[in-house]
Amino acid sequence: MKHLSHPNSWWRETAQQLLVEKGDKTVVPALREIALKGKVATGRAHALWTLSGLESADRATLEKALRDTSPLVRAAALRISEPFIQGTDRIELLSDFKHWRDDPSAEVRLQWVLSAGEAKTPEMDKKIAEVVRWHPQQNLLQDALYSGIAGRELVLLETLLQDVAWAAREPGANVVLNGLVRGLVAARDPEQINRVLDLAARVAFFEKARLDALLEGFATDVMQVSKRPIVVAKEPEGLAALRKTTASPTTLAQIDSMVIWKGKKGVRPDVLPKAFTPEEQALFDNGKTLYTGICAACHQADGRGFEGLAPQLVDSEWVQGMPERLVRIVLHGARGPIRVAGKTFVGDMPGLGVLSDHDIASILTYTRHEWGHTASPITVEQVKQIRADSSARKDAWSQEELMLIK
Ligand code: HEC
Repeated sequence: MKHLSHPNSWWRETAQQLLVEKGDKTVVPALREIALKGKVATGRAHALWTLSGLESADRATLEKALRDTSPLVRAAALRISEPFIQGTDRIELLSDFKHWRDDPSAEVRLQWVLSAGEAKTPEMDKKIAEVVRWHPQQNLLQDALYSGIAGRELVLLETLLQDVAWAAREPGANVVLNGLVRGLVAARDPEQINRVLDLAARVAFFEKARLDALLEGFATDVMQVSKRPIVVAKEPEGLAALRKTTASPTTLAQIDSMVIWKGKKGVRPDVLPKAFTPEEQALFDNGKTLYTGICAACHQADGRGFEGLAPQLVDSEWVQGMPERLVRIVLHGARGPIRVAGKTFVGDMPGLGVLSDHDIASILTYTRHEWGHTASPITVEQVKQIRADSSARKDAWSQEELMLIK
């Protein structure tokens, strides 16, 4: 047990692992003693992790460890306290955002934002935003905020815009608002786009700084992330309203150049998606569910991929290109360097040939029509044919091999 505080990390980690593997709970009281009173900070942190591994990290010990003098121990305690963020057994200190906002350690603040994101409630989202706003120069906090609240950005944006405290002309608030809008625009969901423009138009009447933060968030995506047009059903009312405000004409022109709808002047009909037949719609709906369950683990729900894990599907030429290549990637996997939307990714995707033809057609129809994509749907017959044509294939495809397929 004394090895938990050994100066060499190999000894500490091995001791922790052995204790957890043995599963011997008689050591729990001694571990609690080390966690709270050990002289060495790394030893206290390892004792906490060992307690957690033995499923014996109790509320009382954690409450004290959360106030440890060492940032290392506080960060470990936060991570381990995640089950106590809400519910009847919750630790109040965890939702005291001011306490964590004022923590002197950047690492602890980051861990709090990550752990609090696990609560996934609008109340906690707002508290997280408060902490991020206080430290606008700590970029990692912003990333942690946006990934923690995925799917609830609009709710948070609306809440923050209603809060007078957030109207203060301080850089931190605007950094958060700007980032939220960027995330919302990236999803390219017409309904959300309309909502963001409406909100911006409403803000416009009282406040220029906030308006700029919102609209610049919008234009950043348009100018830097993706040149793909955002297709909406008709001219957004918010956009029309914004033209009558003090919003920067340059920013508005940028937004206007990327939001298109049927009948807009200068828009070619072929860039607008064709309407689905009922069968295609059913494939799309089924594909959306399957995508979330199977592909999103790596490519992420928003299709933007994840550094080191999987490349983006948004704007991918593979997703929108020849079905003969796309279906093969899903059937047998892909490995080695692959160019996607101007970037090279190197990884290994497992073959998912166990999925039925119907499931593959559904998922691919979904990916070819989500995120503003307008490629043709993939039919069950196409998948069946391509599966038969490539039945001899066992290995994952390389980019070079895929390019040879016509
Ligand atoms: C285990 C993680 C993982 C899962 C699950 C996964 N992929 Fe992939 N996918 C990858 C990786 C890694 C690559 C890049 C392979 C390479 O480097 O050659 C990739 C590449 C791709 C590509 C070509 C490159 C691009 O970004 O357009 C497509 C298309 C694709 N995957 C679609 C899917 C679909 C559809 C699913 C769900 C049916 C899926 N993937 C599930 C990891 C995964």
